[in-house]
Amino acid sequence: MARIESEVGIRTNTFMKWVDDRFPFTETLKYHITEYYASKNFNWWYIFGVLSMVVLVIQLLTGIFLTMNYKPAAADAFASVEYIMRDVEWGWLIRYMHSTGASFFFIVVYLHMFRAMLYGSYKKPRELIWLIGMLIFFVLMAEGFAGYLLPWGQMSYWGAQVIISLFGAIPFVGEALVEWIRGDYAISDVTLNRFFAFHVILLPLILVALVFLHIVALHHVGSNNPDGIEIKENKGPDGVPLDGIAFHPYHTTKDLVGIVVFLMIFSGVVFFAPDMGGYFLEHANFEPANTMATPEHIAPVWYYTPYYAILRAVPDKFWGFVLFGMSVVLPVFLPWLDRSRVKSIRYRGWIHKMALSVFVISFLMLGWLGLQPAEGLYVTLARIFSVLYFAFFLLMPYYTTIDKTKPVPERVVFHG
Ligand code: HEM
Repeated sequence: MARIESEVGIRTNTFMKWVDDRFPFTETLKYHITEYYASKNFNWWYIFGVLSMVVLVIQLLTGIFLTMNYKPAAADAFASVEYIMRDVEWGWLIRYMHSTGASFFFIVVYLHMFRAMLYGSYKKPRELIWLIGMLIFFVLMAEGFAGYLLPWGQMSYWGAQVIISLFGAIPFVGEALVEWIRGDYAISDVTLNRFFAFHVILLPLILVALVFLHIVALHHVGSNNPDGIEIKENKGPDGVPLDGIAFHPYHTTKDLVGIVVFLMIFSGVVFFAPDMGGYFLEHANFEPANTMATPEHIAPVWYYTPYYAILRAVPDKFWGFVLFGMSVVLPVFLPWLDRSRVKSIRYRGWIHKMALSVFVISFLMLGWLGLQPAEGLYVTLARIFSVLYFAFFLLMPYYTTIDKTKPVPERVVFHG
């Protein structure tokens, strides 16, 4: 028995040597997994990067199976989704996993971005991780938007109609641009076809490539941590950071617990509340697109509503479009807007903490207001919270300079 085992061992080693002589397999595994040292004081905020990857995989896999029965033509699309739901074996599960996955993607990505804001992970030397992350976020928004047209329901059609026609607010080229995006004088079969191509090929390819670059950049500089301390500055005689532990098996084991809890919550929604009371799947989208009748309220899905509320808060069409664009793009500049000497919220003063709280409240309120009709008090509130949202970013260079910070310890704080 022992002889057979040692023979298998020798053969595996010989095979691995053969591979390693031709491809840096073991070296890559060590660099990115078994000898990638990340801080030992990670908390649960650090689970959302891994969960974003889990959702990405769920979306890619369920998407492939949906494509096997979905028909990207205006005359067939709605019926093909109904066919998937009723006649295709396990079709309902695949479809609900994909539609729930879309909302969960945004939940985990928003929390992942917020973690970076809590601990100043966008600051030097991680600006590129943040910038690539923002590109991922833009592509994700486009991916969700293209995907939402595919079931060809009432909200698919009219939501796309509203958002695409926004580009008409751009002076001189606006109308031509709108026609170019639609590929027709109105949203039609042509638009559906190209959105299908974007949703299943172009954007997922870009997304996967960007996630790869995101991780390459992360592993080049090393992860930040809840204390915002550079662990690479304190290395032991073996060259390993004193506060670092190997990603595998330590962080992977902990991540597994988070993944299981996440999958339990995810399954709960898929099985018991897949439309989430109209937030994940809007009620109007259970009716086929009718080009002659608009739904009573047109509202985008919840993850776009903070920006939509800003758009509607501005009376002028052009400026509404400009502020809408700015609200999405402004976080790109966080690494340069934040002038604080410390990274983590743990060592910042009350001004920053208050500003961050105001930002969170404004973002949530705008999200809620974007779902309400644009009238009366709703519009007034949307204007107030839009001002606060922009103030958080635009005043940041000032308040992060005057904010009193606390001394940052040399080593990370960890209570085992
Ligand atoms: C598909 C979407 C995404 C995936 C799969 C992903 C994946 C990951 C993973 C696995 C990590 C390392 C683990 C962790 O620190 O949580 C990470 C770190 C990071 N991500 Fe993402 N990410 C995504 C989107 C974003 C977005 C939209 C942003 C921000 C705009 C962002 C910003 C960051 C930053 C700043 C870090 C470093 C955090 C630190 O070291 O403290 N990511 N990402």
